[in-house]
Amino acid sequence: MKNLNEIFSTNQEIPEMYKIEKPFIQSEYLINGELKTWKGEFKKVYSPIYVKNGEQLDNYIGECPVLTTKESMEALESASKAFDHGNGKWAKMKVEERIDCLKKFTLMMSKARDLIVKLLMWEIGKSLSDSQKEFDRTITYIYDTIEAVKDLDRASSRFTISQDIIAQIRRAPLGVTLCMGPFNYPLNETFTTLIPALIMGNTIIFKPPKLGMLLFQPLLRAFQQCFPAGVVNTIYGSGENVVTPIMQSEKTNVLAFIGTSRVANILKKEHPKPNRLKTVLGLDAKNPAIILDGADLDLTVKECAIGSLSFNGQRCTALKIIFVQEQIAQKFTEKLVDYVEKMEIGLPWDKNVAITPLPETNKAEYLQSLIDDAVAKGAKLENPNGGKHYESLFFPAILSNVNSSMRVYHEEQFGPIIPIVTYESICEPLVYVIESNHGQQASLFGNNSDEIANLVDVLVNQVCRVNINSQCQRGPDDFPFTGRKDSAEQTLSVSDALRVFSIRTLVAAKETEENKMIIRDIVKEDKSNFLNTDFIL
Ligand code: G3H
Repeated sequence: MKNLNEIFSTNQEIPEMYKIEKPFIQSEYLINGELKTWKGEFKKVYSPIYVKNGEQLDNYIGECPVLTTKESMEALESASKAFDHGNGKWAKMKVEERIDCLKKFTLMMSKARDLIVKLLMWEIGKSLSDSQKEFDRTITYIYDTIEAVKDLDRASSRFTISQDIIAQIRRAPLGVTLCMGPFNYPLNETFTTLIPALIMGNTIIFKPPKLGMLLFQPLLRAFQQCFPAGVVNTIYGSGENVVTPIMQSEKTNVLAFIGTSRVANILKKEHPKPNRLKTVLGLDAKNPAIILDGADLDLTVKECAIGSLSFNGQRCTALKIIFVQEQIAQKFTEKLVDYVEKMEIGLPWDKNVAITPLPETNKAEYLQSLIDDAVAKGAKLENPNGGKHYESLFFPAILSNVNSSMRVYHEEQFGPIIPIVTYESICEPLVYVIESNHGQQASLFGNNSDEIANLVDVLVNQVCRVNINSQCQRGPDDFPFTGRKDSAEQTLSVSDALRVFSIRTLVAAKETEENKMIIRDIVKEDKSNFLNTDFIL
């Protein structure tokens, strides 16, 4: 392993295309179609990547506006006016026209790829290849959404007749939608709610996560130029000042939030009419891997290491605890140590880098406290470099002999610690899954189809995806992504998200000659955007 205090470099040593030459001051915010310049307080943005400057380490990379309740209320007013109780231009627009706006936006967004990728690296420490993947996956998600929305519209472009009633059934927007994404996928996960909500005709207020704010700056002008005024609005600032007031208003119809269940519950409670608020939530998870005797150990070790440590374990889908059958526990642990110790720690643009700087404040201290607690209660730190840290760098720690008395057994570490629990009876991991507050996914490793089938039948009623001989993951994005208990509300996939951000609505009429004439006339003369049989080609 490289010496941790030799990893950060001087500005001269940073490849030219990844350098931040001068602080990135993000002074604009978008409200009611106007890109306003903020004159008030700014928040300094610090990178997890330090730059050596003589004896000193610098990490100041830019600034973001700290808006107040006043601007947040303006954003709400703007979104509400643009929706205009469903009478707004965007809400009533034909799907095909909305698609044209979104396509224009995507073309503009594509041009900002290099800058957004660079800011992803600097703001959250994500590796170059993962930052590129996040950007490209988001573009693909948008194009897939466009295809899905066309399919949905095609399926609704006809009338249905039942019991002498003629009806046209479509999906209509819900209204003002507040979108908040997480720091680990600031672009992708914000857009996996924002884009479907937008294309279904809702109006949007979005607040970038507290880490990963600057990277939205290149998109503000694209939002402004591609969508009618007020359809997309941005807010920055403290949750208390800018989010709470929005949640306290009846004008807010949807909360799309990816983050902790603690914050989601606080926000939901603020709404004055909870029955009118739709919540779309992606929350906590502590996905277990269960390794059965007979599992292919080389494959299992690779999947568990990648599953636990991609983006330093900062994925909601990461494997956060490993249960291994006692006969194979020692062999598995040795092989995992071997694999993890070879992982490269370094800067996001370093070749073959796997472990990168952690962006959250005091994260190393938190992770160290989990290790200390576990070791004090009998866990063993297995890898020689495990837990070594310097500033934002933290080498992954593998802990064996973990049990339910330890914090790391229960807490979602969201970082590079791999806790291993050795089990004698399969009931032990099953009890863990049943008693856990989380219910997102699980991974099963083994080769005995009887055993796997039995476990699958139990686990599918506890979590929402069981992965056989592979790590947990969200993708492919056309697969449903959801969770039980404290892990999620609603299901997101390219097509499910379109349903989540809309409501089935129909126009119905008794099959009388007069009604048929009215409907025929509306359709023939193209008088309505809803009562319409246009087929998007
Ligand atoms: O943080 C949670 C992400 O949705 C995980 O996505 O499994 O594709 O990394 P991923």
